[in-house]
Amino acid sequence: MERADRIAPSILSADFARLGEEIAKIERADADLIHFDVMDGHFVPNISIGVPVLESLRKVTRLPLDAHLMIDNPEKYVEVFVKAGANSVSVHAEVCRDIPALARRLHDLGARASIGINPETDVDRVLPFAGHLDMILVMSVHPGFGGQEFIPEALGKLRAIRTELDRRGLKVDIEIDGGVKLANIAEVKAAGANVFVSGTGIFGEPDYTAVIREMRQRIALAEGQR
Ligand code: DX5
Ligand code: ZN
Repeated sequence: MERADRIAPSILSADFARLGEEIAKIERADADLIHFDVMDGHFVPNISIGVPVLESLRKVTRLPLDAHLMIDNPEKYVEVFVKAGANSVSVHAEVCRDIPALARRLHDLGARASIGINPETDVDRVLPFAGHLDMILVMSVHPGFGGQEFIPEALGKLRAIRTELDRRGLKVDIEIDGGVKLANIAEVKAAGANVFVSGTGIFGEPDYTAVIREMRQRIALAEGQR
């Protein structure tokens, strides 16, 4: 059964020259998802990986692929990512013209629908549409690069979103992305996140199994304290 709290290593921080091995290693380390960061050099000031890489990964892993589209004009590309093997797709609220329509489209394609918000974007840009979504992604760094410092204001957003989802009785995942590591994962869990993206926090460590195991322990402890 799918866990309520899920660890999603971001392969942006993996060794791209040995990507297949890296995937096998995080699978053995008991990761729940593979977070796949797509950047277009317009929505964010960086360019990363795209459809051909996702397609190749689909062939070597059974883990769900969690595509995070940091791109302009996302409507144009969601279908090709789902067809390439993405199980969930996050599109940014800042560039999504019609969130309910986008969610419907993703569901029709057979994928989970998620909307992301940047650090400067208010939760009100996404909360009114929560009933259409499977997940809300809260950015805790300015998107574009791995290895940045966690922006603490994201904690307030997590609390606001979790409170509102609970109030409305909605089962929507809250994914936190950016600067999440062992040192702050308990705090992030206590604020309401349940899907934890971590790039350098996992790939920057020598033992992926140990760090993921320790992350789960800290999450469980924070759950007990809620
Ligand atoms: C940032 C990406 C993140 C990034 C996270 O634009 O969306 O997924 O890879 O990396 P860390 O965990 O190193 O901040
Ligand atoms: Zn991401």
